[in-house]
Amino acid sequence: MELVTDFIVIGSGVAGLRTSIALAETGGRVTVLTKDKASESNTEYAQGGVAVVLSDDDDAELHEEDTLVAGAGLCDDKAVEILVTDGTKYVEQLIEWGTEFDREGGKLVFTKEAAHSRRRILHAHGDSTGAELVRSLIARARQERFINLLPFANTESLIVEDGRCIGVRFLDPILRAPREIYANAVIMCTGGAGQLYLHTTNPQVATGDGMAMAYFAGAEMADMEFIQFHPTALSVEGAPRFLLSEAMRGEGGVLRNVNGQRFMDRYDERAELAPRDIVSRSIVAEMRKTGSRNVFLDMTALKEDFLIHRFPTIYETCKHFGLDISKDQLPVSPASHYCMGGVRTDLWGRSTIPGLYAAGEVSCTGVHGANRLASNSLLEGLVFGARAGEAAATDSSKLKVQNPKSSAQSPLILDLGPSTSISTAVKKRVKRVMWERVGILRDKEGLTRAIAEFEQIASSNLSISSRNFVTLALLVAKGALWREESRGGHFRTDFPEQREEFRAHSIQSANKEIMPAGEINFSSMIGKPA
Ligand code: FAD
Ligand code: SIN
Repeated sequence: MELVTDFIVIGSGVAGLRTSIALAETGGRVTVLTKDKASESNTEYAQGGVAVVLSDDDDAELHEEDTLVAGAGLCDDKAVEILVTDGTKYVEQLIEWGTEFDREGGKLVFTKEAAHSRRRILHAHGDSTGAELVRSLIARARQERFINLLPFANTESLIVEDGRCIGVRFLDPILRAPREIYANAVIMCTGGAGQLYLHTTNPQVATGDGMAMAYFAGAEMADMEFIQFHPTALSVEGAPRFLLSEAMRGEGGVLRNVNGQRFMDRYDERAELAPRDIVSRSIVAEMRKTGSRNVFLDMTALKEDFLIHRFPTIYETCKHFGLDISKDQLPVSPASHYCMGGVRTDLWGRSTIPGLYAAGEVSCTGVHGANRLASNSLLEGLVFGARAGEAAATDSSKLKVQNPKSSAQSPLILDLGPSTSISTAVKKRVKRVMWERVGILRDKEGLTRAIAEFEQIASSNLSISSRNFVTLALLVAKGALWREESRGGHFRTDFPEQREEFRAHSIQSANKEIMPAGEINFSSMIGKPA
């Protein structure tokens, strides 16, 4: 493997794969470093589908409006417009590349999820949309001979020289040693950080490494306090928090408390299809009221044949845990699911550090605001992945000196210090404190205690990965403490109302730890690559 390449993409989910294809199409050499096997990512587990304007009764303005309403005043209008309009083009391209979305009589079928005014969610193999996207994008990427994908290559930090990101340090899976690789641009596509929490729908790889790396490199981080909790993760003792897709409620599933009563209409007129944050908080309230650890998702009104065909993976997984989704009440409770905040970018994926780009869940492009509309994130990965690739290629073609370290000939083995994985003790402690004090319901006292605990952990002698993990927890907790209001995915019991003075983004960076309440305009960083 080369130590110098044209572009480094970190991560191989929808954003990383789409970015890599865009870069390879410009003729550049692309090295993709990914932490686990190529398919292991949040993308792989996506169930519900991709929101896209393709049905006859839909239009871009409606999708835009639904996205803005969900975002609770913090979306960037321009970013949302790009998402919904360009989204159609990129999904059509995906279909041309062989992605098999579900059809009936040859026509695409659309499902509904919470807070969508139309049935506009495309899905694949029932409830395996993400796996189908990964399959087809990997197949497409394999056709590009300039894409070199290196699995099991855990990246730990960015190399910044004279204010420009010029490369990354990663653990070489073959040499089993830390190594550096240089390029004209680095595109961070490392996904989200659901693993910060004790209960999460996210796989083990989702520890938010890219956010922490960007932060330590000096990039601005936006809106880190906005975490989305999914209302219906399977809640069975000893089982992973497997997601029971929102599409199950979209198809007619209802929620019941432990006494068998439906309760959602007492909390919101949209009942089971209210936005996720409302459903999650309602479930918590209902669990407290009834002194129980879960509520139930009831799919029994739907026919068994339909359920097996529509949700085959969920059907099989539940069966594995002794539950028949067509007959049994399914125990569920909320779990952390998605990060709205991340590396602040312009509309072309440029971070505030020259040479560093970000796309997908790791980034904050302004499309989700305070709360993401269901099934908008696969779409974001496609649209903004392609745009980040395009911008990185165009920007770097203007660089006077290409490949700043092209003279480096031999592997540079670095002494990175203590072991590179997140210590189990640190992980356990951070996850518990995040769940208890920086979770669905927050307040000043809990957040202050969480910050003190994280600062104490951070002051000990930690591996780079552990330091990254606890730093990320601090960023979320500090953002949440600063935001003295409730908006979207962030709920403060001591400030339960939305407050106009906080209709603003929180920005944190290693250089200046400020969180201005002033409006930050993501579009102001825009500039289409010439
Ligand atoms: P990911 O797909 O998470 O990919 C991140 C990549 O970065 C991985 O390859 C990972 O291994 C790699 N990586 C991480 N850290 C490092 C490191 N240090 N070094 C090297 N590589 C690293 N969204 C929808 O729109 N529709 C849905 O139906 C839907 N369902 C979901 C269901 C589940 C269970 C989950 C967890 C999420 C779901 N989402 C859904 C959200 C959506 O899947 C993600 O937001 C989206 O896939 C993120 O894509 P990404 O490419 O940004 O990140
Ligand atoms: C789901 O299928 O419920 C997840 C959809 C999403 O996170 O967008």
